[in-house]
Amino acid sequence: MRRTLLAAVALLGATAQAAGVSGTAFGFATGTTGGGNAAPATPSDISQLTEWLTDSTPRVILIDKEFNYLNSQGKCTDCKCCIPSSNSCGSSGQNAIDLDSSSWCGSYPTTTCTYDKAAIEGINVASNKSIVGVGSAGVIRGKGLRLVNGVSNVIIQNIHITELNPQYIWGGDAITLDGTDKIWIDHVKMSLIGRQMFVAGYEASYGKNDKVTFTGNYLHHTSGRSPKLEFNSYWHVYNNFWFNNTGHAFDVGEGTNALIEGNVFQQVKTPFMEDSSPGKTFAVTSSDKSTCDSKLGRTCAVNTLSSSATISASDETVLSSWPSGESGIEVLDAGRVKSSVLSNAGVGKLSSSSSSKKARQFDTSGPLVPVLSSAGPGATPCATPSGTAPKWTWKTIVVTPTPQPSGPPSPPEPSHGAGSGSSPFGLF
Ligand SMILES: *[C@@H]1O[C@H](CO)[C@@H](O)[C@H](O)[C@H]1NC(C)=O
Ligand SMILES: *[C@@H]1O[C@H](CO)[C@@H](O)[C@H](O)[C@H]1NC(C)=O
Repeated sequence: MRRTLLAAVALLGATAQAAGVSGTAFGFATGTTGGGNAAPATPSDISQLTEWLTDSTPRVILIDKEFNYLNSQGKCTDCKCCIPSSNSCGSSGQNAIDLDSSSWCGSYPTTTCTYDKAAIEGINVASNKSIVGVGSAGVIRGKGLRLVNGVSNVIIQNIHITELNPQYIWGGDAITLDGTDKIWIDHVKMSLIGRQMFVAGYEASYGKNDKVTFTGNYLHHTSGRSPKLEFNSYWHVYNNFWFNNTGHAFDVGEGTNALIEGNVFQQVKTPFMEDSSPGKTFAVTSSDKSTCDSKLGRTCAVNTLSSSATISASDETVLSSWPSGESGIEVLDAGRVKSSVLSNAGVGKLSSSSSSKKARQFDTSGPLVPVLSSAGPGATPCATPSGTAPKWTWKTIVVTPTPQPSGPPSPPEPSHGAGSGSSPFGLF
């Protein structure tokens, strides 16, 4: 396995291993080296961490403890909020922060709320950085990471991002990508997130013209948009484990090309949902596996579903137009996926997986928790939001946009990716 990967990397002439990082980027992110061979260093406090993340020096930044941004920018007390129609639960439901930059609240009834300001916008990470947690100690609390406007070559590995005003819509997003290239997100956990664990804007990265390899992730106890895919993007989604999701897993929208194989869905109410403008999806079943095998020239893996509804999607144009450039992937048979994900996925699991690029992660650092929020189809109404946000850990999301045609300037980046039904990728 490793030989296959190293051979592929060597052929491409890319650096095999970045300092301080476990494993090597693969899939569409092959060649991502982050801070490269910069000497790994440990910031002393949040101001130094912010400085190192945002400056123009290639860096390998070790996160060896909790960096707590709560209160670092103060609180907004009795500030403007609104009560969206998704909240039919009164004070136990999720209201929305009415940000000045957003007209999202529209004519919803207004109310006031108090929230932590630091979480509202993530740290603006610059290019050529490796951000790597040490053991299971790496936590960034109260602020997310924001990679936008041409940022490229960033590795985010083995950290936990948590507590972004989880009781409020627009309270903060954990990782934002918009207009980025070559991003490898590995063994990252997110919890207690106010809006989206992962969001892409409309520039190439997660929104338009993206190529994403999405593998080894454990998505459990979510209520919807896990994930939502949209725009002119390619998603190779393999060997992930969904468990006990009370709403939908995939929400596939316009322009998406999704190849879904070798995944396990257990107790997933709605594994697959299409937008009114659906994209193209090929989800491998035992009856169309041979089609996939012959079109891709390799063995495709069948998805397995138990106590779940079905995925019925077999648009072969996904296979015939599959883009090149996804190196070093190896798709496991679904029968091996659950145990692999459960034993390897999550923060603090790098050592168990560094011998194989396919190692999976698992969130072991807390009890399984009920779904948050009254928002979204299939959501559990009136769950108590505080302290009970869903968790989503993942092994790998890698991104390489295709070239964008030149033309008029793009519309401004949305302040936070998503309102209900409109985000390129959100979880609820
Ligand atoms: C990142 O590193 C590459 C390769 O060394 C370099 O060409 C590029 O200018 C760097 N980007 C920034 C923003 O420093
Ligand atoms: C599945 O999720 C439901 C709703 O959140 C919860 O009541 C139940 O205990 C969960 N089951 C397991 C095995 O996690």
